Amino acid sequence: MYTILKKEVLNPTVTKMVIDAPFVAKRAKAGQFIILRVDEQGERIPLTIADSDASTGSVTIIFQIVGKTTMLLNELNEGDSLHDFVGPLGKPSEIEANEKVCVIGGGVGCAIAYPTAKAFHKAGADVTTIAGFRNKDLVILEEDFKEVSDAYYLMSDDGSAGEKGLVTNKLEELILNGEKFDRVIAIGPVIMMKFVCLTTKKYNIPTIVSMNPIMIDGTGMCGGCRLKVDGKMQFACVDGPDFDGHLVDFDEAMSRNMAYRDFELHEREATCN
Ligand code: FES
Repeated sequence: MYTILKKEVLNPTVTKMVIDAPFVAKRAKAGQFIILRVDEQGERIPLTIADSDASTGSVTIIFQIVGKTTMLLNELNEGDSLHDFVGPLGKPSEIEANEKVCVIGGGVGCAIAYPTAKAFHKAGADVTTIAGFRNKDLVILEEDFKEVSDAYYLMSDDGSAGEKGLVTNKLEELILNGEKFDRVIAIGPVIMMKFVCLTTKKYNIPTIVSMNPIMIDGTGMCGGCRLKVDGKMQFACVDGPDFDGHLVDFDEAMSRNMAYRDFELHEREATCN
């Protein structure tokens, strides 16, 4: 059993939990994920490792309440336990020490972007972070990002937090102002990653995307995370989650994602009734 050591509500739909999981904490690297089950009958869900501490044996997860399992997970409190907590899984992100990188997070994708920004910073890279949210109530991890970034830009759709605009507006502004990024790493809604890649393609900047948001069970069995990369079929949970964003077929990934969202909504309604 894996005890919840700490629970923190980050915004009305996003919760952070620190879990006692020493074996996972010992091996965890940026970009990897765990699969958890709330109870014996529960479904398996993959969640990115937002942080880990090998010395205390703790692993941090951040999740958005979008479906039945995340709703049940959110009902648990400090001292409660999870039935399964397996990992670390997936290939770790490639971290380069001598690069100037721009890490872009969108919404709850910032929970996945944060460990990547932190790993680049720790390795000695120059890190610019652009974090985008719909409005100020949804902002998460602002102070955490500032600690690991040489420059941090907060964007919101309605201008209620940071600057009004999209993450791609800020990215293009920085590029036009002379910033020379060796690499851009984008993590968030699939539509956001698509437009980040369209922007960076114009300026020939290598771009990595995390396709974690399209994963369903993380096992390589359900087929829900299938995507086309450079014309070849890949699985986000087995072959990724990181991919060369300029080679990903985002339109196909988005239509697959929508089909599963409808299923989740149905399951969630069934749980609430
Ligand atoms: Fe099910 Fe990858 S998430 S196969």
